[in-house]
Amino acid sequence: MPLLDVRSITFSFDQGTPLFHNLSFRLEPHRTGLVGHNGCGKSTLLALLIGQLQPDTGQILQQGSLAWLSQLPDLQGSVATLLGIEAPLKALLRLQQGQGSAEDLELLADRWLLAEELNQLLTSLGLPADPQLPLAQLSGGQQTRLALQWLFSHPVDLLLLDEPSNHLDAEGRQWLIEQIQQYRGGLLLVSHDQQLLEQMDEILELDTTGIHRYGGNYSFWQQQRRLEQQALQRRLDNTEQRLQEVQNQAQQSRERAARRARTGKQQRTSGSQGKLLLDMKKNRAEQHSGQQSRLRDQQQQQLQQQQQLLRQQQARLDEQKLHLPTRLSGKGRLLDVIDVQLPRGQQTPLTFSLDQGHKMQLCGNNGSGKSTLLQVLLGSLPAIHGEVHLHTRPCYLDQHFSLLNPGTSALQNLQQAAPGLPESDARTLLANMGLRRERAALPVAQLSGGERMKLALLMATRQPDTGLLLLDEPDNHLDLNSKAQLAALISNWPGALLLVSHDQAFVSACDISERLELLASR
Ligand SMILES: Nc1ncnc2c1ncn2[C@@H]1O[C@H](COP(=O)(O)OP(=O)(O)OP(=O)(O)O)[C@@H](O)[C@H]1O
Ligand SMILES: [Mg+2]
Repeated sequence: MPLLDVRSITFSFDQGTPLFHNLSFRLEPHRTGLVGHNGCGKSTLLALLIGQLQPDTGQILQQGSLAWLSQLPDLQGSVATLLGIEAPLKALLRLQQGQGSAEDLELLADRWLLAEELNQLLTSLGLPADPQLPLAQLSGGQQTRLALQWLFSHPVDLLLLDEPSNHLDAEGRQWLIEQIQQYRGGLLLVSHDQQLLEQMDEILELDTTGIHRYGGNYSFWQQQRRLEQQALQRRLDNTEQRLQEVQNQAQQSRERAARRARTGKQQRTSGSQGKLLLDMKKNRAEQHSGQQSRLRDQQQQQLQQQQQLLRQQQARLDEQKLHLPTRLSGKGRLLDVIDVQLPRGQQTPLTFSLDQGHKMQLCGNNGSGKSTLLQVLLGSLPAIHGEVHLHTRPCYLDQHFSLLNPGTSALQNLQQAAPGLPESDARTLLANMGLRRERAALPVAQLSGGERMKLALLMATRQPDTGLLLLDEPDNHLDLNSKAQLAALISNWPGALLLVSHDQAFVSACDISERLELLASR
């Protein structure tokens, strides 16, 4: 019996177009990677698997225990809510105070050391030993590391991880790979991270046509996919060639019929052949060409259907488009940082400058102060001492999409960020990133992680006349195609840039070789 048996499930949000239609697959007790374009439904599928959402039809059968890591944790919550242990912790407290009930005992399920375990973990990560610590006070990396350490120290039969390497630094990523290698239970990993996907025993690819299984790791999947693409292209070329031939034949036969009709007419007028004979010839020719043309119509229709089907299959490999601004402001020196001491992270003061065309990776482990430095540059956090001189308008993308207003639609968000942008242009930009027609009206809170990142990128970079991009982990949440596109855009960006990313392959693809390394103060 597999750990999870998904049988013909169908699901749609608010009776809209189904995201999944008759989807079936099984999860065996090994390491499975789940991949697919941003917005194809990976996180929704996980929510169905853990029972947070219910399928419209079909069944999900589960064997054994489950735990999961969410891609977008609720930042309003506390450390205890992130780990899903708020209720048992409260039960424990009531029991310790002598006010516990039978329900509390059931909730606690003999985990008498729960609070101590949590406090130990928090301390080991250099955080205050307080289960009610607000999540918003932790960096993205700290939140992920905390949740992952908790999950790996409480093994279950099936662990579901939704983009666990977002926000993790190089050391954290290495640690995660080791944990995955050592994990004995079943694992379902949603990720766009090549290194993590290399650790998988099989890859499931989700797209509009369903789920496709590839029995191997990332490299195997890529290789199979390339072969599939080539085969598909060959079939499409073949179909198009045959279609062209049938169309040419139809044209030639129409021309022949017209010629015949002309000759028949001439013969009738000249009286060179008897009327009876001519009528017979005409009937026979019409019958024959009618049959031929019906056959050709049928063939043409079949080929057109096949062409459409193949194009649809190809469309699932279609890329979405991202944009960076094209108008640049500021020339020469764009930023001076003089003897700046950060309020958090690295304690040694920083001095550096950026000129037009100068691109730099800002690196350092989680907690070394990368996001803090960006906020100091923008003036939203004061430095302890030192001076920052900006000679252009910066364009800033933060880690938590704070540019986005979750209550309003993608279209409203974009129009607010870019006043004066005509609605039709805004809709085209949104369609390019995969939010077509009525989907542009979805509230931001309902967008997937990748869709939010693309919208935030679009909004940040639509602000006019910027010369300096400050991008804090813009590659998080992006699918592989979008990552490659963003890297190409960054490498062609003519202005200055400070980029935080923990993905070295992405940084190299952006053509950035210079690094500014911050050191954690611990
Ligand atoms: N409550 C909702 N109502 C309507 N549509 C929704 C809702 N929640 C999510 N969606 C849409 O469903 C689609 C699937 O979202 P999901 O988060 O599952 O994608 P994903 O594959 O995890 O993407 P990513 O790689 O970006 O994380 C998205 O297009 C999203 O906008
Ligand atoms: Mg997702």
